[in-house]
Amino acid sequence: MNTIHRHSGQPQGTPPPHGRLSHQKLRRTLGTALAAGLGVTLLSGCGSQQLLSIGDLSSGYNREVAFMSIFAIALSIIIFVGVSYALFFTVNKFREDKHTAEPAQFHGNNRLELILVVVPVIIVMFLAVLTVRSMAILNPVAETSTKIDVLGRQFWWNFSYPETKADAGGTVTNGNEMIMPIKQDVALTITSGDVIHGFWAPNVGGQRAAMPATLKTWNVDTDRAGVYQGNCSQLCGASHANMRYKVVALDQERYNTFLAAAKAYRAPEPAADSPEARGYAIFMQGKPATGALACAACHRVQGTPAAGAAGPDLSFFGTRRTLGAGMWEFMTEEHWETPRAKEILHAWIKHSPLVKPGSLMPTYDGSEYLASGKKVKGGVLTDEEIDDVAAYLRGLKLPEEANYWNDTPVYGSSDAAASDTAASVPAQTAKTTQPTPGGNQ
Ligand code: CUA
Repeated sequence: MNTIHRHSGQPQGTPPPHGRLSHQKLRRTLGTALAAGLGVTLLSGCGSQQLLSIGDLSSGYNREVAFMSIFAIALSIIIFVGVSYALFFTVNKFREDKHTAEPAQFHGNNRLELILVVVPVIIVMFLAVLTVRSMAILNPVAETSTKIDVLGRQFWWNFSYPETKADAGGTVTNGNEMIMPIKQDVALTITSGDVIHGFWAPNVGGQRAAMPATLKTWNVDTDRAGVYQGNCSQLCGASHANMRYKVVALDQERYNTFLAAAKAYRAPEPAADSPEARGYAIFMQGKPATGALACAACHRVQGTPAAGAAGPDLSFFGTRRTLGAGMWEFMTEEHWETPRAKEILHAWIKHSPLVKPGSLMPTYDGSEYLASGKKVKGGVLTDEEIDDVAAYLRGLKLPEEANYWNDTPVYGSSDAAASDTAASVPAQTAKTTQPTPGGNQ
């Protein structure tokens, strides 16, 4: 009942139709698997359109790692061949049926023992030097690099731009979609607001743990403009797999345009008596008569009094094309405007933990949810009121020239509107109490 069919729903654990695999079948299966594996490996190596790959050589980080890996693998092959040769040579030469006498012992042969110690030490030192070299290239954070602060929470991300203070106050921040410039090091400072998460967007660089009360700096980079997939890489609770984000890499000019627009941005003021205006009122004050909490208590919207920090920043919500921290993707403007996207947003606002297990957002259909580990009853908003809030959120748009999705190629998306096997939101039955697993368990 609490299931979300996000990916194509192949039934799992279906037994093979004719019982055990025959030898021939097994061989064919293995052959296919091997070919597929090789194909995937080769594809990643080409840096072509792929979902998640450290083999994407558009990133200087990945090139450095690839360079090191090639050395390490080549060395391993040489050692493997050398040792295998020595082994078979020895076994063959000193076979018992060829020699009746006990073979000569080398205990006490200082020269041989020295060689057996020195050669591995040289190999290990060679690898250590390579590693230190790569670390020296990848790790220093230059004063001039673009800085982005990354905050992981159960189960979403905030990306703020510490050098860009908004005209309306506060720091420019975007939830779940990280915008970065291409062809330069981008210095991330990564932390967590609760448990350990993992920042992992392999197309732009390696992964780094996001630890509470710890700031870690980390460089990422790419030469190619595009939208890349990011995931949480540390098991962090019920929706670990739903803790996704997008990395949007733009050329310097477009990045500057985004940043300038974001700096100047003030949330648009809704026209009087519009759905947006009604949504704005609920967003700011909630609906005290039914106990519905104000969204502003947990979310920030730049240029309004909403300055909550418990949930993701919603300042540019209408410009985003992902929902629920990348759980649903609508990769074109057209898809973002489909009834499907609206249905999911509606379901999300109404009863977030129902569509995303472990979500800590309050409910607005009167069902219970977890607040600080305790079950409490949510307030109630009517469907119209929820749509008003959704309309307000959808109106929070950056100016069109700063829309970072325009003409940015998307690598490896699973567009929820474009795909037949897309997400289905569980039917909403008001007042049903769903057992919601706590995020932190
Ligand atoms: Cu956060 Cu897994």
